Amino acid sequence: MTENRILIFFLLTGTFWLQACADDISPDPVGDLESIAYDPQPYEVPVPQGFPPLTVPADNPMTVDGVQLGRFLFYDPILSKDSTMSCFSCHLPQGGFTDNLSVSFGVEGLPGKRSAMSLENVAFYNNGLFWDGRAHTLEEQALKPVEDPLELNAPWEIVEARLRRHPDYPAMFRKAFGISDSGEITRDLAAKAIAQFERILVSSGTSKFDRKFLAKEIGIDFSEAEYNGFDMFFDIEGSPLPDAQCFHCHNTPLFTTNEYFNNGLQEAATLDDFPDPGRGAITGKKIDNGKMRAPSLRNVMLTAPYMHDGRFATIEEVLDFYNQGIHFADNLDENLLPPLGLTEQMKSDLIAFLKTMTDTTFVQNPAFSNPFHP
Ligand code: HEC
Ligand code: HEC
Repeated sequence: MTENRILIFFLLTGTFWLQACADDISPDPVGDLESIAYDPQPYEVPVPQGFPPLTVPADNPMTVDGVQLGRFLFYDPILSKDSTMSCFSCHLPQGGFTDNLSVSFGVEGLPGKRSAMSLENVAFYNNGLFWDGRAHTLEEQALKPVEDPLELNAPWEIVEARLRRHPDYPAMFRKAFGISDSGEITRDLAAKAIAQFERILVSSGTSKFDRKFLAKEIGIDFSEAEYNGFDMFFDIEGSPLPDAQCFHCHNTPLFTTNEYFNNGLQEAATLDDFPDPGRGAITGKKIDNGKMRAPSLRNVMLTAPYMHDGRFATIEEVLDFYNQGIHFADNLDENLLPPLGLTEQMKSDLIAFLKTMTDTTFVQNPAFSNPFHP
């Protein structure tokens, strides 16, 4: 009797489980895709003058159809548990591909731990991705937000099944990667496509700074305030203005050196006490605790709030911090050890300079925009 009950229980729950699975993950075969032409055309990414060459992994060459597929996936809530969010929810073009929040919120409104990062020029960041550098390639990175419980929170098996039975995606994967059956759609191919799209998110080279100093166009004039800010930012020798030290970590052309630093942001009594250990949690080295990858300052006027925890709402607060708010620690970068000694006027001149990096052509580029609402 008891045994029978147990058997019935298992039969019932087992059947229920199988049905739930059938609803969620069985692909409706879309059938043979071989009638659709596979004719990959290379995608050439325009790179502004003065930028390093854009390197692309040998096993994921950029193609027109690959980039297009990646663009759709980036903007498609099909990648989230409850179909409400996409990569775009936290990386919006008008925010320089950030969400303009201190920390991001995932599906069901759960707050994340850090501030969303800009994706501008992400193709050039070859020294680790994320604030702490824990992902190595864009292909590897793109797999993470989908399953992250504080982001899109969808098991990849479910997403793969949704893509396989979708009316349009099987043909798009065929054109991008030459698959012959919708069953060949995998998370790895989806990540490859998203990475291809991310690699086209390159600055336009038309910011005032770029036109004057990288393209060296004649007739682009800097105001006195912009020049003063430039002199301080780059510690120009012979200038009577103080050195603001910024370029050591935020250098041209990307306005980041891509290295990890403790810039004195977090207060910590010892190297073990940083609220967010950042790089140290990845390398396991105490000396790396409290270090983060220096973010790029391109389009910095569009990406507020600032820092990994979004603690500063305005650029003025950032400059007040560098001027007077640095927290000492044994691994504080030596360039930030002496106080900068900037006056109100000097801080405002530095901001005038930072504004010359605003690149509205980049944020408005139609190739980067939402393909569902063009
Ligand atoms: C819920 C908000 C959210 C969603 C959704 C989201 N991201 Fe992010 N993204 C973040 C946050 C926050 C970080 C920084 C996380 C960290 O450093 O720990 C980040 C960092 C990144 C980075 C690293 C950039 C750099 O310079 O190192 C890339 C690339 C990225 N996201 C791409 C994506 C892609 C692709 C998707 C969709 C598959 C996506 N994100 C979805 C919030 C989000
Ligand atoms: C020692 C290296 C270093 C120096 C010098 C430095 N920074 Fe930074 N900067 C960083 C790091 C690292 C971060 C990220 C810190 C974090 O979030 O924990 C950062 C973050 C920023 C941010 C936030 C950007 C964002 O997207 O959130 C701004 C703005 C900024 N720095 C501007 C400047 C300016 C202006 C100067 C010169 C006055 C300067 N920095 C000097 C390393 C440096």
